Amino acid sequence: MVSKRSTASRTDLLTEIAPDVERLYNRHLEAPRLWLPHEQINWGQGENFGEHPWTEENYPLAAGVRSSIYVNLLTEDNLPYYTSTLLNHAPKGHPIGDWNRQWTMEENRHAMVMRDWVHISRCIDPVMLEEGRRVQMSKGIVPEPETFADLISYVSLQEKATQVAHRNTGAHLPKHDKVGRNVLALIAGDETKHYLFYRDLALAAFAIDPSAMMIAAAKQVSNFAMPGTGIPNFTRHAVRIAREGIYGLNQFLKDVLDPVLGYWDLDHLAGLSPDAERARLDLESVVAKLGEAVERMARRVAGPSVALS
Ligand SMILES: [Fe+2]
Ligand SMILES: [Fe+2]
Repeated sequence: MVSKRSTASRTDLLTEIAPDVERLYNRHLEAPRLWLPHEQINWGQGENFGEHPWTEENYPLAAGVRSSIYVNLLTEDNLPYYTSTLLNHAPKGHPIGDWNRQWTMEENRHAMVMRDWVHISRCIDPVMLEEGRRVQMSKGIVPEPETFADLISYVSLQEKATQVAHRNTGAHLPKHDKVGRNVLALIAGDETKHYLFYRDLALAAFAIDPSAMMIAAAKQVSNFAMPGTGIPNFTRHAVRIAREGIYGLNQFLKDVLDPVLGYWDLDHLAGLSPDAERARLDLESVVAKLGEAVERMARRVAGPSVALS
């Protein structure tokens, strides 16, 4: 990859990338996914909770799958804080603001349709879900990337990870829950489009300022955590989700890092500053260590219910 320049400042990157934001935003709009949340739900299946309180028997499901639905839905609920984080990086009139509003509009229907499905199907405890929402949203904790380069590196990884988590959760639902499988597939499809926007925006940023982007990408990969740290008992849920084979270190390495970093072709990035060259080495070492950790876990654990495949 040949860089347009190598020392763009934070503001320069935002200014110089504006035409790419517009190009990718227009590409996003050219292939709309106009599914309607209310049409996805089998409303006649619903029962009042007052007369019929929720029990696990309403919808038998592995604990890791319940945890994944819970965490994924609460993450969608936390959207307002992601919106404001992104807006902090959007100067007035910059096209990233237009993208942010479109993205917010699309993300908002994920929580709506998931919650409708959850309440009608009774796949998870609605009381625990609402308590989780109250706790998480009153904290408003979301990752806050420092620079625009950090932001687009992080969000590229996060949208891909979210797509994988929704897709794999849907695959773990019982075959008879066609509504649930369809809802999660629709959401995963939206996340794919969000990922493509950020992945390609980051690629454009690498061409403008490869050093800043390399340093940002290395930092974001090293520190990456799925959104959700404000969710009650997040670590316990994350362990269950990984054990179920839905999302864990293995998926982060194989389904997120491999495609994202491979697409950015970081091995062949030219024109890096000494700091950025160090960051590239750091990144290689982090990825290698993650690979070793995944192999160690795969050797240690056996059986079909394990996160590693
Ligand atoms: Fe979403
Ligand atoms: Fe998304």
